[in-house]
Amino acid sequence: MTSVTSLFAPVESDLDLMTHNLKGLIGARHPILSAAAEHLFGAGGKRLRPAIVLLLSKATLPQQEITAKHRRLAEITEMIHTASLVHDDVVDESSVRRGVPTVHSSFGNRIAVLAGDFLFAQSSWYLANLDNLRVVKLLSKVIMDLAEGEIQQGLNRFDTSLTLEAYIDKSYFKTASLMANSAKAAGVLSDVPEGVAEQLYNYGRHLGLAFQIVDDILDFTSSDEVLGKPACSDLKSGNLTAPVLYAIEEYPFLTTLIEREFSEVDDFAQAIDLVHSSKGIVRSRDLASDHAHQAAQCLEHLPPSAARQALQDLTSYVLRRIS
Ligand code: IPE
Ligand code: IPE
Ligand code: MG
Ligand code: MG
Repeated sequence: MTSVTSLFAPVESDLDLMTHNLKGLIGARHPILSAAAEHLFGAGGKRLRPAIVLLLSKATLPQQEITAKHRRLAEITEMIHTASLVHDDVVDESSVRRGVPTVHSSFGNRIAVLAGDFLFAQSSWYLANLDNLRVVKLLSKVIMDLAEGEIQQGLNRFDTSLTLEAYIDKSYFKTASLMANSAKAAGVLSDVPEGVAEQLYNYGRHLGLAFQIVDDILDFTSSDEVLGKPACSDLKSGNLTAPVLYAIEEYPFLTTLIEREFSEVDDFAQAIDLVHSSKGIVRSRDLASDHAHQAAQCLEHLPPSAARQALQDLTSYVLRRIS
């Protein structure tokens, strides 16, 4: 299987520079936050979102070097993403991320909340300093959306009346909004026509939805070692994702198990078995595949280039993670 890193070949050295810059930007002022930043940005994140921004910079300005503003946008995008993960791991009480202990399990909840806040605050500051109001609006909306997504997820735990539409909305807020708006922002910095900017937004939205659905499938089918974070944790904490929502249609008894929060012996093991014997995982894969194909179509208006090809290949990479 092609690794995600080889897909990023056209911007590999740019991504390394970004990681180096991020450690510097975050670490300069507070030793304890610098320890957390070193820990996070040194670990094995896939750097998918900044790669998209950098590839789009190349694909929309094919004759030029990547601009300083595009580089800064890539850094801001990874900062926002990482901040959301640090807080998400506190909320989920998750012990491992990117193959290393989470910030809260190494340094405590206090430091994790402060480190997440600090990353969000830093990202806002660097965002404002891009001096581009449209880009500020796009990315500050993302920070609102992330909070909205976490709140929706928190409120809907163990709620078996959750619809697939509500799950997709939540996935947009938690995951696709950042990919959509940072992709569009990359286009705005390149001065692309409005119609192209909208297509870049749709590329990020569909790719983000496919990515989240795949992440939700992997939670059922993969292992802690492969994922670098705990598997089999969504259902246990009452987070009902696509595979479960489909499985409920086939096995309504699942709702009983979920509504009593797996309080009886074997409830949880039985629920997992039902999800695996249902068509939930296959149907979720089809849903992800549909979004990945729609993402690929949104690139048709960009001129052909190695960067555009990499963005296209990314849409099939997302699906290959579960094949
Ligand atoms: C994790 O994102 C959160 C989701 C949207 C599922 P990634 O899988 O891109 O996390 P890192 O950055 O590689 O750790
Ligand atoms: C996306 O969803 C996380 C954020 C955008 C904060 P998940 O909750 O599924 O992410 P993981 O599985 O913890 O990485
Ligand atoms: Mg989580
Ligand atoms: Mg997940």
